[in-house]
Amino acid sequence: MRKPIIAGNWKMNKTPEEAKTLVTELAPLVKDATCEVVVCVPFVDLALVKKALKGTKIKLGAQNVHWAESGAFTGEISASMLKELKVEYVIIGHSERRQYFGETDQTVNAKIKAAIANGIKVIVCVGETLEQHEQDETITVVSRQTIEAFKDIPKEDLKKIVIAYEPIWAIGTGKTSSPEDAEETISVIRKTIKKLYGSAPSEAIRIQYGGSMNPKNAKELMAMPSIDGGLIGGASLKAEDFAKVVNY
Ligand code: 13P
Repeated sequence: MRKPIIAGNWKMNKTPEEAKTLVTELAPLVKDATCEVVVCVPFVDLALVKKALKGTKIKLGAQNVHWAESGAFTGEISASMLKELKVEYVIIGHSERRQYFGETDQTVNAKIKAAIANGIKVIVCVGETLEQHEQDETITVVSRQTIEAFKDIPKEDLKKIVIAYEPIWAIGTGKTSSPEDAEETISVIRKTIKKLYGSAPSEAIRIQYGGSMNPKNAKELMAMPSIDGGLIGGASLKAEDFAKVVNY
């Protein structure tokens, strides 16, 4: 049995004080959640949010990490820095980072290794663009992204990784993949993991859906057998909305 995991990706939203207010509102609303609940907040919010989350079941996540342990990488944040702040999860390879900040399959792979080496669990994102979607390249693209992301990652580390399937055309657009389409692509991702690692790890790994998931569509998406959770953007910025998704 895979325990569902619902994570909020706040993206570049909420100052530290706003972040504290949001998680303080959120905590009582999700106290009975049966899934794992994570908030992935901007770097500058991490310390204050960690404090505010004390005694709650909500876990702390970041949205990016550098692959190197330290060094001349102006503006970047290392996994050991996140570890010291007790960050439990980090999103790696979000399509916005691939699109606007030059993230590649290779940097995604290096970042996963850095996070795991520091005891931080990973939410690794894969997903196709609208153009790739329309040209029926979804399966080719997500399979390649998955294979490259997991390159040289040993089987025993798989339990520290969650995959998020986020069709780029569904992000922030209000267009959601149909539950059946999401299910189909996620099954392909699971089959890719099976080819790489065998049957048991592919059945154990959790795969989320992301892209305009909200209180209205969460239930039907979560009802699909292969969908183990959600990575939520816009709807994670309001405590009430995010709680409704978590309590789907
Ligand atoms: P939206 O939920 O705003 O579409 O964003 C999805 C996303 O990119 C989560 O990482």
